[in-house]
Amino acid sequence: MQINSATFVVSNTDFRKCPDDNFPEFAFIGRSNVGKSSLINMLVSKKDLAKTSSKPGKTLLINHFLINEKFYIVDLPGYGFAKVSKTQRDKLRTIIENYVLLRPQLTNLFVLIDSRLEPQKIDLEFIEWLGENSVPFSIVFTKSDKQSKAKLSENIEKYKSVLLEAWENLPPIFITSSEKKTGKEEVLNYIEKILNN
Ligand code: GTP
Ligand code: MG
Repeated sequence: MQINSATFVVSNTDFRKCPDDNFPEFAFIGRSNVGKSSLINMLVSKKDLAKTSSKPGKTLLINHFLINEKFYIVDLPGYGFAKVSKTQRDKLRTIIENYVLLRPQLTNLFVLIDSRLEPQKIDLEFIEWLGENSVPFSIVFTKSDKQSKAKLSENIEKYKSVLLEAWENLPPIFITSSEKKTGKEEVLNYIEKILNN
C-alpha cells in the first residue's frame, strides 16, 4: 500500500471523544518503550508524526492519525511502565481498556513485542485478555536490528511455542525494525488486505 497522506487529527484520554466518523482504526499497543510511535513513523515515512522518546512513558494519550483520508492509525500509551504512580498507571490502563473494548471502529490491534526479550508475563497476559474479549490482533516484533539474525529467529521461535501453549493457531506475526525500516510493506499490505475485505 502506498501512503499518500498521513496527518495528526486529535489526542484524547477518552475513547468517546475520538473522531466520530466511521473510518476503520488500526491501533498499536505494547509495553512502554517497545517502539510503537517509532513504528508508526516508519510505516508512514514521516520522522516526527508520532512523538517518540528514549525514555518510557512518552505517549500518554490516544492519538489518531488519518491515513489516505481512508483509515486511522492510532498510537496508544504503553502499558506496564513501572516508574509512574499507581494512580497514573490505573488511569492509563482504563484509557487503554476502554479504547480496546468499547471502540467499534477498532479493526485490528497490533501488539508490539520487543524481539530481544524472552516472553514476558505482562505481554502474555495482555494477549490472553485480548483473546478472552475476542479482540482481533496481530503481533509485531520490534527492534529486530538490535541483535543477530540467529538470536532473532531463536527468540521468535520461542515466542511462537509459548503462544501455542495457549492458542490453537498463531495470529499474524510481523518482524520489524524502525531503525532499518524493515517489515513496513508486510504490515501495510496486511492493513490493505483487511481494508479490502
Ligand atoms: P511509549 O510511548 O513511551 O509507550 O513508547 P513507544 O512504544 O512509543 O516507543 P518509542 O517509539 O518512543 O521508542 C522508544 C525508543 O526505542 C526510542 O529511543 C526509539 O528510537 C527506540 N526504537 C524504537 N524502535 C526501534 C527499532 O526498531 N530499532 C532501534 N534500534 N531502536 C528503536
Ligand atoms: Mg509512544
